[in-house]
Amino acid sequence: MSRVTFRLGLVGAGRMGQTHLAAISTSATVTVTAIVEPRAEVAASLSSQGFITHDSAEALVAAGDVDGFLVATPSALHVEAVRQLSPAGLPILCEKPAGLSVAEASEIQQIVGDSRSRLQIGYWRRYVPALQNLKARIDAGTFGRLLVLHASQWDHRPPAPEFRNTSGGILVDMGVHEVDMIRWLSGNEVMSINSNELMSHESEVVDQDAGVFTMRLSSETLGLATLGRFYPDKDFVGVEVMGELHHEQIDIISGDGGDDVLMLALRTQAEAFALGADPNAATIDDAIAALRAVNTATEMRR
Ligand SMILES: NC(=O)c1ccc[n+]([C@@H]2O[C@H](COP(=O)([O-])OP(=O)(O)OC[C@H]3O[C@@H](n4cnc5c(N)ncnc54)[C@H](O)[C@@H]3O)[C@@H](O)[C@H]2O)c1
Repeated sequence: MSRVTFRLGLVGAGRMGQTHLAAISTSATVTVTAIVEPRAEVAASLSSQGFITHDSAEALVAAGDVDGFLVATPSALHVEAVRQLSPAGLPILCEKPAGLSVAEASEIQQIVGDSRSRLQIGYWRRYVPALQNLKARIDAGTFGRLLVLHASQWDHRPPAPEFRNTSGGILVDMGVHEVDMIRWLSGNEVMSINSNELMSHESEVVDQDAGVFTMRLSSETLGLATLGRFYPDKDFVGVEVMGELHHEQIDIISGDGGDDVLMLALRTQAEAFALGADPNAATIDDAIAALRAVNTATEMRR
């Protein structure tokens, strides 16, 4: 009996695109069938693995043999990718941050609004079972009044300088995850934000090696995030919630099991995206809220 799967067209098969590819390869309901990748050697390798490859998003749209799109191009090209894909009127799952600024994310919002395409932003932590469970207990009042949420994201080693120099900086590239997770877990909006960063020691890199920010949230709760481009052994992602009644610290990605957590979350995200109508799905409004917070933090220090 043949399985009915949702055919996904992947746009951008770099570091994250290939991670999505590996994660989705174990899904019974979603299959990546076509890929847009301009690097000829990468496209040739993908095509030898049986994927249909295209050299542009327009060619993918023209081929018309997919049910939705996954955008994993560099963040500076998110707007362009969404603009090229939206005429198809199919659902689009766009990697975070959805452009580098509130202006770019708003442009994406306008484009998908005009084409009436469904858009989801790839904030995968919303699909980590331990975080869904944490959110359910926060919502149920287990923690009582929330005092502080602390989110940590410390990468093992930084990405290549070419990526770092166009990523928008550590707050846009990494910090938006922490803003989104804190907003989503607490159900709060960001009222104000203050940040500080450590510039890279490498002269050719215009990115930071570490960053911290604090936020005042709408229900008189504080949010705190710590970000780093260097961490021993493996990537680390964690969250700590301090409430009047309960305290909890969760290592979301840590040590050898971290990859499994990420892969499961990415696959679950793709499957939820294919089905649609998922209350956990990050929207373009969520992406704009995260970018507004980190853009504000950066502008305040100019
Ligand atoms: N959610 C997460 O945890 C997470 C982690 C890493 C990266 N990301 C996001 O994923 C996106 C990609 O990051 P990355 O690390 O994979 O970058 P990358 O540079 O490794 O990969 C980008 C890929 O897109 C391709 N590309 C460039 N222009 C293109 C175009 N016009 N059409 C199609 N493909 C094109 C490049 O050749 C490259 O293969 C970024 O937006 C980044 O913020 C998200």
